Amino acid sequence: MGGVFLVGIAGALGLAGALDRIRVEDGVLKDAAGRARVFHGVNVVYKAPPWHPRIDAFSSNDSLVEEDMAQLAAWGFNVVRLGVMWPGVEPERGSYDRTYLATMRGIVARLAARGIYTIVDFHQDAFSQEYCGEGFPAWTWLAEFGRLIGQCAPIASYNFTTDPATGFPDTDECLARDFTMYSRAPEVTSSWGKVFANASGVAEALVAYWAVVAETFAGVEGVLGYDLVNEPLNGDFFEDATLLEPGAADRRLLEPLYARMAAAIRARDADAILFFEPTPYPSNIPVLGGVHAAGFAEAPGGNAALSYHIYSCGFAATDCDRNGDVPGVDCDACDAFAEAAGATRSSDARRLGAAAFLTEFGACSGSASCLAEISRVADVADAHLHSWAYWQFESASRGRDGFRALLTGEPSSGSSTSETSRRSPAPRRASTTPTALSRTPRSRPCGGPTLRPSPARRRRCATAPAARSASGTRRPAG
Ligand SMILES: *[C@@H]1O[C@H](CO)[C@@H](O)[C@H](O)[C@H]1NC(C)=O
Ligand SMILES: *[C@@H]1O[C@H](CO)[C@@H](O)[C@H](O)[C@H]1NC(C)=O
Ligand SMILES: *[C@@H]1O[C@H](CO)[C@@H](O)[C@H](O)[C@H]1NC(C)=O
Repeated sequence: MGGVFLVGIAGALGLAGALDRIRVEDGVLKDAAGRARVFHGVNVVYKAPPWHPRIDAFSSNDSLVEEDMAQLAAWGFNVVRLGVMWPGVEPERGSYDRTYLATMRGIVARLAARGIYTIVDFHQDAFSQEYCGEGFPAWTWLAEFGRLIGQCAPIASYNFTTDPATGFPDTDECLARDFTMYSRAPEVTSSWGKVFANASGVAEALVAYWAVVAETFAGVEGVLGYDLVNEPLNGDFFEDATLLEPGAADRRLLEPLYARMAAAIRARDADAILFFEPTPYPSNIPVLGGVHAAGFAEAPGGNAALSYHIYSCGFAATDCDRNGDVPGVDCDACDAFAEAAGATRSSDARRLGAAAFLTEFGACSGSASCLAEISRVADVADAHLHSWAYWQFESASRGRDGFRALLTGEPSSGSSTSETSRRSPAPRRASTTPTALSRTPRSRPCGGPTLRPSPARRRRCATAPAARSASGTRRPAG
């Protein structure tokens, strides 16, 4: 009786019981009882000081407080990929900010109380704020100008105005240009080259970041795992063009670095999942032959998940608008790119004995083409039984609509019943290993009224209903 009452209260408050540690077994994420788990959620990454979401009060565009967490849980989400930013962790070399670490640990604990797991993410884009990105603290700047080829303009040539308040390029000017170009700037690639060469001991400092972060989160309930590096670049491919050969940078540069990070983490938190991502090039340069297999020979430290992203803009489609939207709902190149990414990362993960996890997609504005992109990519992940996290929960510092805005129509989306809200993201548990995901009737898998069905959906809908609901009849493409 008392037990039933307590369960009732917990259910009414949306509170969760203790969260099991999740492990990767045979490429599947499993809980302590051996049940397969699929995770759906959002990214929460703050790319400017104070390097975390607002935690003192609710705000529709930049908080992560109880009200936000209750919303996430109510939408059925069970994972957040949380940026634990290096400049927040180690603002001065060798000096760790324990207050920042405690803030991040508190966020993870509150998410866990709502039944939401956290992926602790080392996040970077275009190396640092100096290059219109973020990630590496000011004390790691290592730029040496590489040789300029092709479309890769140096950051200096953009003539950005320096923001007097920060000393960095003006954010509006940064955002006015195609963000993906910055990662190909020689300053950025040469900085990455220096990291891999451990210039000034920066690679060691990055491994030490992971030691401190793993120490902080070891034993904290709800930590799904650690995402070693977001979108790691190929090193200095102006200096050494062979680093653009498919798989070369993964094998030669990333795998040894990941192994050192894995050892540092495992010494402090033995059984958390390690998320590891291949380099974006050449797979994300359209003219270089599409998506290529990752070059890793093994997953770092076992119990690992291959992290991958799918964005049509800048990769499959080069004519996106300033909101990050593909020009139209129909985009054959986007369909082909998304399907190739899902199939290739599935086979990479199988080969490496890892799970595969789509840790980013979306980043668009709520237009019809954005919603089509969300369907396109989420369908691919679902078809491969990959977990996913949308980029991102709130607009944060990047000017685009967040997931909440897509659902509520605020601040700039006019859509109140978007594709995302119909997708039924509720987490699933299965007593055995699932072979297919099917949607709730609310999601209308074959009758979407406004959106063109993606190829994955068209194939599903072309299948007889009896066959569709039968387990084990779907085969991953590729
Ligand atoms: C930056 O300034 C230089 C010299 O004034 C000019 O040649 C160049 O076109 C400018 N670049 C951009 C992207 O406006
Ligand atoms: C990286 O450089 C630092 C400082 O120079 C040095 O202490 C460390 O041993 C180096 N690590 C590797 C793996 O080379
Ligand atoms: C959030 O919205 C407020 C009010 O509209 C605005 O002043 C603030 O800059 C926004 N913050 C972010 C991170 O976009």
